[in-house]
Amino acid sequence: MEKVAIESFAMNGGVGDNSYANNSSLQRSGFEATRSLIHEAIMEKLDIKHLTSGNSFRITDLGCSAGPNTFAAVQDIVEAIEQKHQSEGTQLPLPEFHVYFNDQVSNDFNTLFASLPLERRYFATGVPGSFHTRLFPEKSINLVHSFAALPWLSKVPEEVVNIHSLCWNKGRIHYTNAPVEVKEAYKGQFAKDMMRFFNARAKEVVHGGLMALCFPCLPDGQPNSHFLINVLFDLLGSALMDMVQMGRVDEAKVASFNIPFYASSTKEVVTLVETNGRFTIERMETLGSPILQAREGSECYSKTTRACTEGLIREHFGHDDEIINELFDRLTKKISDSDSILEESYMTYVFVLLKRKED
Ligand SMILES: C[S@@+](CC[C@H](N)C(=O)[O-])C[C@H]1O[C@@H](n2cnc3c(N)ncnc32)[C@H](O)[C@@H]1O
Repeated sequence: MEKVAIESFAMNGGVGDNSYANNSSLQRSGFEATRSLIHEAIMEKLDIKHLTSGNSFRITDLGCSAGPNTFAAVQDIVEAIEQKHQSEGTQLPLPEFHVYFNDQVSNDFNTLFASLPLERRYFATGVPGSFHTRLFPEKSINLVHSFAALPWLSKVPEEVVNIHSLCWNKGRIHYTNAPVEVKEAYKGQFAKDMMRFFNARAKEVVHGGLMALCFPCLPDGQPNSHFLINVLFDLLGSALMDMVQMGRVDEAKVASFNIPFYASSTKEVVTLVETNGRFTIERMETLGSPILQAREGSECYSKTTRACTEGLIREHFGHDDEIINELFDRLTKKISDSDSILEESYMTYVFVLLKRKED
């Protein structure tokens, strides 16, 4: 099996004030928009008779975090498959469902397992490890789901932290508003990661199996500097730079810090699927998500950003709670003062349904 050095960046665990579990309502509203698409995908595209072997149906949610959104996704999928089974009028018994919850090894699987729904109609298993590598035996998975996870890169592109490179990203923590070379380096890393993702899944997913992938993504031609997540990372970088000015954080530390997240365009996604060649695109939709107003949304946006990046920030800058709290208080204030920036911002997801081709 391929060995890959993983830069760990699980979301905040637990169920406390800063946890992902309590600060994922923005992802939840994006997910809500995809629910009917997943249902339709299963009703229209799933060849259930062909896929079920030994009466088991195996589902995985890649990048599940510690909940709760993953449970809603999995329940929808199981219900849709049950409905599909009934609609086929078959004499065969309902399949038994096995659900594999996957995330990075540093994910809070204890919180995930402790909050598993009691009424679930599936066997639950945790699968720790990066989805950029093999996670399952060959031809063992019938349906892959993943929400809001694929833009997270396996690592920051090396050029971006190389002081001798044109891409050295001093004074910023992301490619937003950076020279074009920096964005290109991120784009290249995303392409490499996605190729590894598709190659691993091509081995694991049975022929005819489906992948329902949904993640933050830009419609073609839209400016990446107005994409909401990029705007938030830009403001976080600006808060860090303010703390450098005040002598609260070391400048060199900020110069070597970057967020490994890349929001691709839908065109890039199509090109990557086609270049890989192992899956057909059965459906693709772009979905919009509303933007909150600066003052009303500042706390929610800041806490969501914190739940997603605090682990990374602590790993790089250390575990000084005072510094971390100050950083996110500053971010909240910056968002609250950014009416005009948020007015121009937009948030979109791509939903892409892929089917594993015959070899
Ligand atoms: C924004 S959260 C989304 C969580 C959940 N799917 C939801 O909709 O609420 C992204 C998740 O992807 C996980 N993730 C990122 N890169 C990953 C990788 N290479 N392998 C497995 N999980 C990964 C993160 O740890 C995180 O839990």
